[in-house]
Amino acid sequence: MSKKVLDTFRLDGRVAIVTGASRGLGAAMAIALAEAGAKVALAARGDLDGVVKQIRAGGGGAEGFNTDLADRAAPKKLLDAVEKRFGGADILVNNAGIIRRANLLEYSDEDWDAVMDVNIRSVFVLSREFAKRLAARKAPGKIINTASMLSFQGGIRVAAYTASKSALAGLTKAMANELAPIGINVNAIAPGYMATDNTSALRADAARNKSILERIPAGRWGEPNDLNGAVVFLASDASAYVHAITLPVDGGWLAR
Ligand SMILES: NC(=O)c1ccc[n+]([C@@H]2O[C@H](COP(=O)([O-])OP(=O)(O)OC[C@H]3O[C@@H](n4cnc5c(N)ncnc54)[C@H](OP(=O)(O)O)[C@@H]3O)[C@@H](O)[C@H]2O)c1
Repeated sequence: MSKKVLDTFRLDGRVAIVTGASRGLGAAMAIALAEAGAKVALAARGDLDGVVKQIRAGGGGAEGFNTDLADRAAPKKLLDAVEKRFGGADILVNNAGIIRRANLLEYSDEDWDAVMDVNIRSVFVLSREFAKRLAARKAPGKIINTASMLSFQGGIRVAAYTASKSALAGLTKAMANELAPIGINVNAIAPGYMATDNTSALRADAARNKSILERIPAGRWGEPNDLNGAVVFLASDASAYVHAITLPVDGGWLAR
């Protein structure tokens, strides 16, 4: 008998890695995946205890893994540690990301490299290593990347960030083409303007804040929890035939 539709969204028995899960969008997505039944491996440089405790208090399974994705050795170390703790992972949410703002003419090589290392190189390496392990287990899996409005648009004063997030939309398609045949769905979520540390400078600038709000049909900044439905959908059997999309969750921003 086929599963009832809501059951296809459940993640019981799955293990999900969420990078950048110490706060903001990653923390919210990790909590949502845990609520849907997954055990969650949280990765970031900073303190993960708060999110781990919150998930455990709700009856979920979680563990924090101190990880600096700017370090080339980090992806393999993280996957080894998760394997040791949980046995392999089934879902990878590539969410860790940084932004450096400067005018184009003053944009430094150092800022360019720092953003590219975390936002795109680490995503490629971690996804490749994750997929290799799934392939070796002949197991299906899900990769979900956190893209951006700047996967579609140019932005202002964020050259490296735009380049990295546009590359991420392309990488999502490139990986999906090669991984769909072995049962791995690769997709991305493109959050709109969300109220997190990443956008605090924009919200603190009254003129930018006003012009951003005026363009959002929903009339408000997004909240981290606004991604919950999208991430559970893309992590679950409910999206079995969905490959290579970059799904905007943007209050309508791109329609304007
Ligand atoms: N907020 C928005 O409006 C928005 C819109 C579109 C896309 N995004 C994207 O969504 C993702 C999450 O952003 P956010 O808004 O939640 O930002 P945030 O509050 O600044 O959180 C960023 C997360 O990434 C982690 N991180 C940063 N550098 C890392 C590194 N080298 N190694 C491991 N983890 C690292 C941070 O943890 P530690 O500092 O503890 O390492 C933190 O958990 C990013 O990819 C961002 O580009 C955000």
